[in-house]
Amino acid sequence: MIRFLTAGESHGPALVGMIEGIPSGMPLDSDMLREDLSRRKMGYGRGGRMRIETDEVRFLTGVRRGVTIGSPITVILENKDFSHWEEDMAVGPRSGEPERQVLIPRPGHADYAGGIKYGMRDLRNILERASARETAMRVALGGVARQYLRQLDIDVTSFVLEIGSVSMKSPHMEVKDFSELRSLVMASEVFCPEVEASLAMIEAIRTAKREGDTLGGVFEVRTTPLPVGLGTYTQWDRRLDGLLAQAMMSIQAIKAVEIGLGMEGARKHGSKVHDAFLPAGPGQPPVRPTNGAGGLEGGMTNGQPLLIRAGMKPISTLYNPLPSVNIRTGESAPATIERSDTCAVPAASVVGEAMVCLILAQAISEKFSGDSIGELKAHMESSERVEQMYYPGNIV
Ligand SMILES: Cc1cc2nc3c(=O)[nH]c(=O)nc-3n(C[C@H](O)[C@H](O)[C@H](O)COP(=O)(O)O)c2cc1C
Repeated sequence: MIRFLTAGESHGPALVGMIEGIPSGMPLDSDMLREDLSRRKMGYGRGGRMRIETDEVRFLTGVRRGVTIGSPITVILENKDFSHWEEDMAVGPRSGEPERQVLIPRPGHADYAGGIKYGMRDLRNILERASARETAMRVALGGVARQYLRQLDIDVTSFVLEIGSVSMKSPHMEVKDFSELRSLVMASEVFCPEVEASLAMIEAIRTAKREGDTLGGVFEVRTTPLPVGLGTYTQWDRRLDGLLAQAMMSIQAIKAVEIGLGMEGARKHGSKVHDAFLPAGPGQPPVRPTNGAGGLEGGMTNGQPLLIRAGMKPISTLYNPLPSVNIRTGESAPATIERSDTCAVPAASVVGEAMVCLILAQAISEKFSGDSIGELKAHMESSERVEQMYYPGNIV
């Protein structure tokens, strides 16, 4: 079973991550990882930090001469900004108080609840870990999971559907070819495949920025068709829909998750939502002309592509700050401003992809297992044959 953890503070020396359960014999392509990490930094509306964050992945364990060896993989991403924070963020003891303390909690952040929970007045102790800088490590580990899925011919991609009140005209567009979708997405500064909507989104971000305000939005993650039966209905905490929703919701600022038609489906008649089965010929699995279920029925994959959407709230830090209270003086004060984005929905879509890759890799390793990549592939192939054999049309 694949497990993973991340550690590290936003302005500390480095982010560290560990992923365990990746089989041996899998080549790791550092260029692919670098590409994922650079996509996370892109997108119109991002702040100054993105110019500092040139993330270079370094593997410390679990990889030898570019190939996994089955042991836990440790990844390190150095924080390039640390040289400016060495005194404030020193791990060793120091006399006196740190210079850059945060004493005014920022609405919409972890500052207030975290300060009370961990009993710390300097809210920097909270925001350093609560910050979305942590998502860089999720993208690095998700990149390892993506390469695991690629070995099994599974691809994962994403695009931005909405920013603020601007939406794509065809949010349910059919995608035959992922590489075509990817080039449309990468041609857009907001990762939206529709040119007109992209331009309107950029304009909306520009206006929000001018007003010292921020924007959120919606993105979708899609996969190529998945093997039948990842996840299960047999226990609540093993349902794949629940695991995916938790993973998406765990991304900073994500406040809504939808699978397939999601909320739109809740407002329709069943006849307009559920996906009929049509015969494809003797001994063949039936075909399904629609995918309102988003590839999941009964908490299991049903052989269709996964479609999952996430709604991100507007960035919490406002350059025109909301009122807050200084916790040392008790007096009213504008919320602290920590260098910030105006809109990070495109970046969040890359993090969403990473989380989907990690959860799918976990579900696959649970169903098929395999200590080496060859064993995993063999288990998957034999399972496909079993599915064919037990398909009722094939039983004599
Ligand atoms: C990729 C990404 C970038 C983000 N950048 C910022 C930012 O620059 N400024 C900010 O205030 N919040 C940013 N956020 C959101 C905050 O991290 C988040 O709102 C905060 O940690 C509180 O968590 P919660 O919104 O999940 O309650 C970002 C989130 C993501 C996913």
